[in-house]
Amino acid sequence: MAGVVSHAPPLRRHRKPNRPAARQVPAAFGAYNVSHVANRVKPLERIIAEGSDDTRGLKRALGPLGLIAMGIGAIIGTGIFVLTGVAAATRAGPALTISFIVAGIVSALAGLCYAEVASSIPISGSAYTYTYATLGELMAWLVGWDLILEYAVGASTVAVGWSGYFASLLQTAFGIVIPQQFQHGPYDVGPTGAPLHGIANLPAAGIILLITLLLIKGTRESSLVNSIIVTVKVAIVLFFIIIGIGHINPANWHPFMPYGWAGVFSGAAFIFFAYIGFDAVSTTAEEAKNPKRDLPIGILGSLAICTVLYIAVVIVLTGMVPYTSLNVASPVAYAAIRAGLNWAGLLISIGAIAGLTTVLLTMMFGQSRIFFSMSRDGLVPKFIAWVHPTWRTPVVSTAIFGVLIALAAAFEPIGILGSITNMGTLFAFVLVSIALIILRRRHPDMSRGFRVPAGPLVAVLAALTSIFLMIFLGYRSPLWLHIPAPWLAWIVWLAIGYVLYLAYGSRRSTMAADERAAAAASSPSSR
Ligand code: ALA
Repeated sequence: MAGVVSHAPPLRRHRKPNRPAARQVPAAFGAYNVSHVANRVKPLERIIAEGSDDTRGLKRALGPLGLIAMGIGAIIGTGIFVLTGVAAATRAGPALTISFIVAGIVSALAGLCYAEVASSIPISGSAYTYTYATLGELMAWLVGWDLILEYAVGASTVAVGWSGYFASLLQTAFGIVIPQQFQHGPYDVGPTGAPLHGIANLPAAGIILLITLLLIKGTRESSLVNSIIVTVKVAIVLFFIIIGIGHINPANWHPFMPYGWAGVFSGAAFIFFAYIGFDAVSTTAEEAKNPKRDLPIGILGSLAICTVLYIAVVIVLTGMVPYTSLNVASPVAYAAIRAGLNWAGLLISIGAIAGLTTVLLTMMFGQSRIFFSMSRDGLVPKFIAWVHPTWRTPVVSTAIFGVLIALAAAFEPIGILGSITNMGTLFAFVLVSIALIILRRRHPDMSRGFRVPAGPLVAVLAALTSIFLMIFLGYRSPLWLHIPAPWLAWIVWLAIGYVLYLAYGSRRSTMAADERAAAAASSPSSR
């Protein structure tokens, strides 16, 4: 994710780009052909200069441990607390353990690429910035647009997970039951596949709107709060593993692979969501004490710790209860309650709610930051990314996206939302892997804090395995127009982005303005 709440720089208002030349040589709509703008690569020196300008004065306060904690804070969330249950019940069975290993390997390969690219271009903006420097403006726009999908739909997914634990907490602690039709969206189905006749998931929409208000007011977690919540989250996961071990019934692990290898891979594509977030570390480049050394440690360290925790949770969870019963809104608390440990279920719900809230803040904040970076480059209209003078937050874009994210959380099922998020993230992984290869070829001697051994090979493997998971996201997904739902949603989103780019960004970007200025300066009439 391209932004972390706790260490984010305050937003600056946009500097006016160099426009006069653009006025002298107006560009007609469609004046740029696609191959031309696709080659409009933003020079590395300029990216680094702008990054330094934007974050001038930031304290370089983050060491390797702080970065690992930040990664864990962004990673552990709805994936492990909710999607694990759905995936075990409907896709992989107890073999979900293998799915987690597969998704962990894909993430580690991508994580290595992120680590090298982030240590070479230690500037905020993550995949969007790396792509602008390598594959050109069109691809950068598409990645930025794709990342918006990842964050926005990802936040909706987490909100639906949050709602499940919130409802479970209210019921276990206070005996309050939220009416079924306001706990679920219209397309949600129950554990047996029967419709739940929901109207709207109100708690999910409510938490999104609340966080939108916090972000508009510029409330940010302090480093201390972030560290406390990360500690609570890890403690809850460890707590579940420890109390659960004593309640394992090995008979629950049989059959181990009820849906075959296709189920295992489709499970991996689905629970890949649980790993999203490690790239958040790469966006703190300008606040790390020693980014070239510590970014790789933060990215790979947080990923390694989460992988071990996840595999342990899945072994325990599928050992405690039959996998077929896990298709519920709060499976980890459910397993504890079913084992007769109501108090443990309560603690797990509290921990999950706190942990999921920080993931939500991180995702929604990341979304607003990526939008801000794109608007700084002139790729989206400035008024949308307008920064409030007192609060120093992009009020308009935060409010617009807040409402859209809340609507998605209220009406769409978690499985669809999670799969669409995964699609967007895996695509960004593919492009970061390609960015590594291009940077190695074009800038072989640039200083890299971290160099992936056999880098191009690792990058190719990262890209291929990410594409492999993208393909499996279509497996057993609902069909829209005979195309798997996550693919269709992603293709339509990118197509809209492409049209918007041609209509606006290709003509109005700061790079386009510079090109026109250069053309005007060198034209005979200007001499
Ligand atoms: N990995 C994060 C989660 O599972 C996005 O919620």
